[in-house]
Amino acid sequence: MSIFAKNYWYTKMMELATSDARVKTQLFHFVDVLPVLQTVEQKRDHLIEYLSAPYGQKSWPMVLKLISSLVRVPLLDRAMVGIADFQVKQMAKNFIVGNSLEEALPKLLNARSKKIAFTLDILGEGVFSDYEAQFYFDKYKTLIEGLGEASKSWKKISPIDESSLGDIPPVNISIKISALDCRMDSMSFEASLKRLIARLEPIMELAMKKNVFINFDMEQFALKDLTRELFKQLLLMPKFKNYRFFGIVCQAYLKSSLSDIYEWIEIAKQRGTPFSIRLVKGAYWDYETIVANQNGWESPVFAKKVESDANYEACAKVLLDAFPAIELALGSHNIRSISYALAYAEEIQLPENSLEVQMLYGMADPFKESLVKRGVRIREYAPVGEMLPGLSYLVRRLLENSANDSFLKQSFLDNTGIHHLLRSPKS
Ligand code: 2OP
Repeated sequence: MSIFAKNYWYTKMMELATSDARVKTQLFHFVDVLPVLQTVEQKRDHLIEYLSAPYGQKSWPMVLKLISSLVRVPLLDRAMVGIADFQVKQMAKNFIVGNSLEEALPKLLNARSKKIAFTLDILGEGVFSDYEAQFYFDKYKTLIEGLGEASKSWKKISPIDESSLGDIPPVNISIKISALDCRMDSMSFEASLKRLIARLEPIMELAMKKNVFINFDMEQFALKDLTRELFKQLLLMPKFKNYRFFGIVCQAYLKSSLSDIYEWIEIAKQRGTPFSIRLVKGAYWDYETIVANQNGWESPVFAKKVESDANYEACAKVLLDAFPAIELALGSHNIRSISYALAYAEEIQLPENSLEVQMLYGMADPFKESLVKRGVRIREYAPVGEMLPGLSYLVRRLLENSANDSFLKQSFLDNTGIHHLLRSPKS
């Protein structure tokens, strides 16, 4: 089912958020902070502060007006706080597969039976202490060990467990480097790199031993060079040089993405064994734009969505031309972007199943189904973990789904015509 059809509260919140930027900020702050609060009193005050009709909004929904009034009534506050807590949890459930691997695994296996592979993401990023970094390091290792072992008994499913270059691991894990080090800083590049290599080397060794795919996520622009250098150094280490199942992300909203891709192609040729690139548009657009504005820097991201869309197609073309040195994963919910790449792969006569499409858990489900029917290899980005470490992830999803130029919003909420949706970003 599509995320936009799923539940009333979520749809209502998206409608409100898209109608007024100030309301959007208010609502998302509310969601972002609520799970952090502990006592009923704190939550009650938070509800009053954020859910009372803001800026004289006439359209503020009745139900929110009611909650923010009733929460002021002694004895009713507890119930209202309970409702708000429940709704935020429900909303998070749209995007998070489960609180724990035990809860998530049956769902992941069920998706596999429907020919949807997964890349597992442990929720948690931007850690503040060595203790937390160690916690995530241990968690990744346990996960690789456990799932790698369990997957030995899984039945091979076509086309998700193979590519035109041969079999691929059924277990695929996405890693955010900001979960593994708390002192990462581009100003102390070499020291950060050294610490990160010490973290990633054992993870990758274990992955190789257990036949697990490891993908490095890309986060804020400030971490891009570090992430790239880290991946490059690890890729070229003799012990990792022959392993095909490492991947990295390239964000097409970055003005530098195309030249980064040309460098990756050179590295892939030097290495001799393919690795993967997940091409996405990028999930930190608001953050990058605000940070650049605040500091008076030139923004690293394209200002307009169509520019990112056009660059995405240009990047996809260069990456497909580079096959088999690089295997491409298209991370997108935009049918125009995906169709462009699939058509180009056909035009240059790449063998069947030479690329895959990745989409986020809980989003664009009808698109996934129709791509499965067309025999395309589909992988879901599947976040697992508690709500608290998942808050940044959740807010990124709310921001992208409420953006007026979101492809999913235009397709499912606005009923934008197919000709408009599929038009070239260059036109
Ligand atoms: C994110 O965490 C999906 O990696 C992307 O927002």
